[in-house]
Amino acid sequence: MIIGIPKEILPEEARVAAIPETVSKYIEMGFAVNVESSAGRGIGVEDNEYANAGANIMPDAKVVFASSDIVLKVKQPYFNEALNLHEADLLPNNSTLITFLHPATPSNHDIIRKLRDKNITSFTMDGIPRISRAQRMDALTSMSMITGYKAILLAADYMPKFIPMYGTAIGTIPPANILVIGTGVVGLQAIATGKRLGGVVKALDIRKEACTQSQSLGARILEFDIPQELAVGAGGYAKALDETWLNKERHLIAPLLREMDIVILSALVPGEVSPILITGDMVGTMKYGSVIMDISIDQGGNCEITTPGQVVQQGGVYICGTQNIPGRVAVHASWLYAHNMYYYIENLCKNGIDKFDLSDEIVNSSLVTNQGKIVHGGTLKAMNQLKQRITI
Ligand code: NAI
Repeated sequence: MIIGIPKEILPEEARVAAIPETVSKYIEMGFAVNVESSAGRGIGVEDNEYANAGANIMPDAKVVFASSDIVLKVKQPYFNEALNLHEADLLPNNSTLITFLHPATPSNHDIIRKLRDKNITSFTMDGIPRISRAQRMDALTSMSMITGYKAILLAADYMPKFIPMYGTAIGTIPPANILVIGTGVVGLQAIATGKRLGGVVKALDIRKEACTQSQSLGARILEFDIPQELAVGAGGYAKALDETWLNKERHLIAPLLREMDIVILSALVPGEVSPILITGDMVGTMKYGSVIMDISIDQGGNCEITTPGQVVQQGGVYICGTQNIPGRVAVHASWLYAHNMYYYIENLCKNGIDKFDLSDEIVNSSLVTNQGKIVHGGTLKAMNQLKQRITI
């Protein structure tokens, strides 16, 4: 069984799905590992380090894909400009792909159908359930942790002010006011980083449990009096609020925005479009030089006027729809991701490297295509919804 590690091809994507340490572990498990030349260049790992770990170095992506039984990637398959071929077409029929596929996202549906038609067994790293047994495999949590940290640093870079308080001979410069909305993994890391840098941090979440965690990190909680049965659903996850409650929440946020220097938006209900918590009019009330980091942008964003992938300045306010934030901390993101991936494969192959345990809960929830069928519930639901909308 051969594992293939191609170089990621998305512009500015420096991460890689395996590092020499995990290559050695795969070889110990009984796999052979083929790595594309310069796959680790973005994290400062040269071909000879992969070769020393036991990998075979391949000249280009075509050879890596063609020779592999299991391809490990970070991002979903993209069009490879250099080869004039789509990565989904480079995958051999009947092979296996493990990566972040975001299979419910409509723009990825054609890729998922292609994987189905080529009888590829595909697993998505964002499908791993957040249960304790899966903690070491939880790549979403790893990447979100990095994102919360880096979001504050990016905001600090745009902001024409200090974050910490400074006493100077001229007078005291006050600390920055930071508001974090949605305090899941991203939000909690943003709170911790904002506090470490000396900011005054306020936090808002609809789940009481998330509020308690924010408080323990030193954030002041914005009290939102929502009944927990409306806010929290199965498994302790947030529920989507109706428009009446979202309106109440926006009314709570609006007066605060005028004081804020940095607003981190990371509110999300799993499997849903992100709720709009800041409207264009609300942005209009914010101070010159303040920064909105709309982290939920891949699910639509929490601010009405964020542009995906862009940083725009409107009325002196930076509105950042920056995507792929973990790719900007590529060394540690790859270290975490490569280990998450290894532990996932160790569990997948616990009965032998050629006997995937598809009955395992972690494996099953992340399985997207198998035996010529799309089997991932969220993806099928999203595809059906889209079909109905088109028919109507
Ligand atoms: P999470 O599911 O752990 O946290 C989301 C939080 O939002 C939960 O605590 C939930 O209770 C809260 N929430 C839901 N509705 C709310 C509302 N109306 N008001 C206030 N809070 C509300 O998710 P995680 O891992 O923290 O990710 C957050 C977002 O960041 C997601 O959209 C994720 O896709 C995105 N993300 C973006 C990255 C990027 O590079 N731009 C990288 C990693 C994550």
